[in-house]
Amino acid sequence: MSEEIKKRIMELVDAYYQKVKKTIPEDKVPVSGKIFDEKELKNLVEASLEGWWTEGRWNREFEKKLREFLGVKFALTTNSGSSSNLIALHTLASPKLGERRIKPGEEIITVAAGFPTTINPIINIGAVPVFLDVELGTYNIKTDRIKEAISDKTKAIMIAHTLGNPLNLDKIKRICEEHNLWFIEDNCDAFSSRYKGHYTGTFGHISTVSFYPAHHITTAEGGAIFMNDAQLFKIARSLRDWGRDCWCPTGHDNTCKKRFGWKLGNLPEGYDHKYTYSEIGFNLKMTDLQAAIGTAQMDKIEGFAAKRKENFAYLREQMEQFADTFILPQAEEDADPSWFGFLLTIKDPKIDRTHLMEYLIKNGVSTRLLFGGNIIKQPYFVDGHLDYRVVGDLTNTDIIMNRTFWIGIYPGLSKPHMDHVITSIRKYLSSRQ
Ligand SMILES: Cc1ncc(COP(=O)(O)O)c(C=O)c1O
Repeated sequence: MSEEIKKRIMELVDAYYQKVKKTIPEDKVPVSGKIFDEKELKNLVEASLEGWWTEGRWNREFEKKLREFLGVKFALTTNSGSSSNLIALHTLASPKLGERRIKPGEEIITVAAGFPTTINPIINIGAVPVFLDVELGTYNIKTDRIKEAISDKTKAIMIAHTLGNPLNLDKIKRICEEHNLWFIEDNCDAFSSRYKGHYTGTFGHISTVSFYPAHHITTAEGGAIFMNDAQLFKIARSLRDWGRDCWCPTGHDNTCKKRFGWKLGNLPEGYDHKYTYSEIGFNLKMTDLQAAIGTAQMDKIEGFAAKRKENFAYLREQMEQFADTFILPQAEEDADPSWFGFLLTIKDPKIDRTHLMEYLIKNGVSTRLLFGGNIIKQPYFVDGHLDYRVVGDLTNTDIIMNRTFWIGIYPGLSKPHMDHVITSIRKYLSSRQ
C-alpha cells in the first residue's frame, strides 16, 4: 500500500515538474542558476519520505559517485565549499601529523584576488597568508613569483582554479615537491575542468568543491573534500563530525567492534568510543536531502561541462570584435576549463565599470565581480589586526578590483543568450562613440 502511494507521489512530482519547468528568456542572462529536472525532485521527495534526513544512504551513494568521477580514494561530503576549505586546513594543522603539521605562525602561499573562504581558513588555523599577484587573462597565480615567496616558514600553497581555469599544475606541483609543501587545491569553481587530461581536484594533497547553486553541480548548500591519503581522510572526517575518534556512520554503533574497549587520552578504560574526541572538531555534515539532489546532479555533470564549454567558446569567438576594449579570458596552457563564468577586464580607461555593469543589468545581463578584488583592501583586513605578507606588487589584483567583471555561461544558457550579451555590449559601446 505504501509503495503504491509512493508511486503515485512520484508520478505527481513528474507531472508537476512538467507543468512548472521553465526556460530562461533569451533577453535574460543570469550569471548562474540551478539546472534540474524531475529526477532531482523525485530523489529529494524520496529522501524526505524515508524520514532519515541526516547523513545516510544518499550521502554514501553521492560520495561514491564523487569518488568515482574524480578517481580519488576518499570523498567526504560537507555542508559547503567554505566548510570543506576549513576542514582541509584544520586537517593539515592536526597534531596527528607531527612535524608535517602546519603550525601557528607558519606561512601559506595564496592570491590576494582569491575568494574569502579560500583565504580565511589560513587565518583560522593561525597561519600567515602570503599574497601573490595573478596574471590578467588567466586570472591565476603568477607562478614565476612563487619561489620568491617561499621562506623557511612556508608550509603550503592553497589556491583556487580561478573561475574554472586550471592553474599551471605542472609548475605548482613541482615547486611543492621541491620544497616539501602541502598543496590544497580549491576546486570549488572548477569541478569537471581538466589539466593535461586529468580532472582538477586530483592534483592536490587535498581538494575541495562547492555545491552552492552557482557551481557546476548543486545540492542547494553543500560541498565535498577529497584526498588519497587514509590518515588525512580519517582526520578530516573526525573534524567534520564533532572531532570524534569514532568513525561509525550516523545512526550506526560499534563499527570498530570494540566500542567499550578503548583507552584513549586520560579517559577511563572502556569509555564509550562514540563520545571520545581526538580533534577540535566541528559539525559540518551534509544532510541526506542534499545528497539526494547531488546524486541526480552527478549523472549530468559531463553534460553540464560540455554546455559551459560550448557557451564559453561561442562567446569567446564573438567577443574577439571587442578585443581592443577588453582583455578576453585565456585558458592556461594544457588546460581544458569547464568555465564558471566569462571574465572581462576593461582596457579602455574611458569606460567606467559600474556604468557598464548597470547598463548590462538594465538590459537583462547580470554581472559579478571577481570575488573581493584585492582581499587586503576589504574592511576585515584593513583594521590592522591580521598578520599577512605580500610578495611583490599586486598591480593586476588592483586592476581586477577596479576593472574586471564576469558574465554567465552556465548550462541554463545557450547561443541566443550569448548573442544578447554581444548585442548589449555592442549597443553600449556604440552609444559612447
Ligand atoms: C573559489 C571558491 N572557494 C570557495 C567557495 C565557497 O563555497 P561555498 O559558497 O559553498 O561556501 C567559493 C564560493 O563560491 C569559491 O568561489
